[in-house]
Amino acid sequence: MESPAIEIISLSFSYPDGVPALHDINLNVARGETVGIVGPNGAGKSTLLMHLNGVLRGKGTVRVMGLDVNDENARKIRRLVGLVFQDPEDQLFTPTVYEDVAFGPLQMRYPREEIDRRVRDALRTVGMEGFERRSSHHLSFGEKKRVSLATVLALDPEIIAFDEPTSNLDPCSREEFISYLMALPATKVIATHDLELVLQLCGHTILLSGGTIVTEGETRELLGDRALMEKHRLRVPLSLALGPR
Ligand SMILES: Nc1ncnc2c1ncn2[C@@H]1O[C@H](COP(=O)(O)OP(=O)(O)OP(=O)(O)O)[C@@H](O)[C@H]1O
Ligand SMILES: [Mg+2]
Repeated sequence: MESPAIEIISLSFSYPDGVPALHDINLNVARGETVGIVGPNGAGKSTLLMHLNGVLRGKGTVRVMGLDVNDENARKIRRLVGLVFQDPEDQLFTPTVYEDVAFGPLQMRYPREEIDRRVRDALRTVGMEGFERRSSHHLSFGEKKRVSLATVLALDPEIIAFDEPTSNLDPCSREEFISYLMALPATKVIATHDLELVLQLCGHTILLSGGTIVTEGETRELLGDRALMEKHRLRVPLSLALGPR
C-alpha cells in the first residue's frame, strides 16, 4: 500500500528552555491532500510544521512519503518537503533575490540553465520577476514573503508546508497566491489564521491548541462550529457564517 504523504506518531516536543510545545501529536495526511492547521497564537502550529522537514526533532515518529525524518535521510527529506517559514527573514540569507531562490536548486546540482529556468518560473509565479538583482533585505515585508515562497517553489517539492502564507500580502496578491496554490499538485499543509483561505483550499482541518490536536475534521463542519471556534480564540469565517450568497 502507498505510504501517506505525512505520518506522525506520538510526537512530543519541548524547546531547549523547557517550554513544552507539542504533546502526543498523531496525524496522517494522504498524498495530494490539502490540510489546514488552525489554532490560537502559541498553539504550536509553527513548531509542528518545523518537524516535517527536520528543522526541529521531537520525541516520536515523523515520516514523509514513507521516509523517517532523521539524520540519515536529511538530504532526501530536504528535497521532498519545502517549508515556507512564517518570518521571511528566516528564509532569506544571501545578498540577492536571485541567489536566494537559486540556493536550493544549486545545492541539488542542477545544470545552470535548469537553475535559471527554476528561478525565473518561481519568481514569475509569485509576481516578483525583475527583482533578481535586488537585495532581499531591502524588500518590503510582503515582497520578502513572496520571495521566500519562490525559494521553496524552485525545488518543486512533493510536500509543502506553509506557515501563514497570506499574511502581509495585499488583497490581489493574496488572491493570486490562492489560485496558484489550488493549481499546485503537491501535498499541502497550511498553518494560518486566514480562515477564509482554509475554507477555500483545505478539505480537512486540524485544530491545534495548547500543543495538542483538539479535534480534526471536514473543514466546513469544524470551522462552522461556533462554540468550538470561540473556545479556542477563533471565529467562524464570515463567508460561512453568512451562508451561500
Ligand atoms: N524558539 C523558542 N524557544 C522557546 N519557546 C518557543 C520557541 N518558539 C516557540 N516557543 C513556544 O512554543 C509554543 C508554540 O509556539 P508556536 O510558534 O509553534 O505557536 P504558533 O501556533 O505558531 O503561534 P502563532 O499563531 O503566534 O504563529 C509557544 O508557547 C511559544 O512561546
Ligand atoms: Mg506560528
